[in-house]
Amino acid sequence: MTHEPPVLAAPRLPRHVAVVMDGNGRWAKRRNKARALGHRAGVSAARRIVRACHSQGIEVLTLFAFSQENWQRPPLEVRLLMELFVRTLGREIDSLHRNGVRIRFIGDHADFPESLRELMREATTRTAANEGLVLVIAAGYGGQWDIAQAAQRLCAEGLPLTPANLESRLVTADLPHPDLLIRTGGEKRISNFLLWQLAYSELYFSDVLWPDFDAAELERALHWYSGRERRFGRVPESA
Ligand code: IPE
Ligand code: IPE
Ligand code: MG
Repeated sequence: MTHEPPVLAAPRLPRHVAVVMDGNGRWAKRRNKARALGHRAGVSAARRIVRACHSQGIEVLTLFAFSQENWQRPPLEVRLLMELFVRTLGREIDSLHRNGVRIRFIGDHADFPESLRELMREATTRTAANEGLVLVIAAGYGGQWDIAQAAQRLCAEGLPLTPANLESRLVTADLPHPDLLIRTGGEKRISNFLLWQLAYSELYFSDVLWPDFDAAELERALHWYSGRERRFGRVPESA
């Protein structure tokens, strides 16, 4: 897949939107509730955004659900998150499939509970032939891990470590790079998300906490994106 953009002006709609869904814990804290409640509200927000992207005609939506660094959270929170993933996946898969969504998972899943790994495999296989929105769930994902595993594969195959070769072994190799990155929750950092793939993404930071992010907020981000001029290191045609 080529990532060479044909024109300088951003097309009105991004093909690929990637989201760092941050702020669940603070959302709960503001309500004097346990962080788990924030994560549950975060699932509802994710469901809303998947629907909104689907109806907007976005091709790919990547959601950062759990980073490699998130393993360092208290064991109870990690366990609750794993249970939430299992429950959510079990509950949502039929409706995602009915709506033509193709779901896949990126990340190192070695330490995930077997029940979750099985559900992820099932969901991937079942929806593989769908032609609607591609929903990529980044879980146990780290941008550095992704680049390292790509490099390891090339070395094992005896291939030179060129950017093009590396690109072709990333877990997102068959997808366009994100055109738009949205991070909610007010922090302005990448937190080891798609380090390589975000090279030329437009970065949108919102102070809204993830559980409050809705279709109107997505619309705001898409509108902001539509005004960007993407130069990819070149000069605008009008210059
Ligand atoms: C993001 O919300 C969800 C995950 C990382 C799983 P946080 O849990 O990071 O919420 P804050 O940043 O503490 O508010
Ligand atoms: C990024 O959020 C990871 C996910 C949203 C899954 P974090 O809350 O883990 O990021 P930091 O620790 O604030 O950088
Ligand atoms: Mg956070």
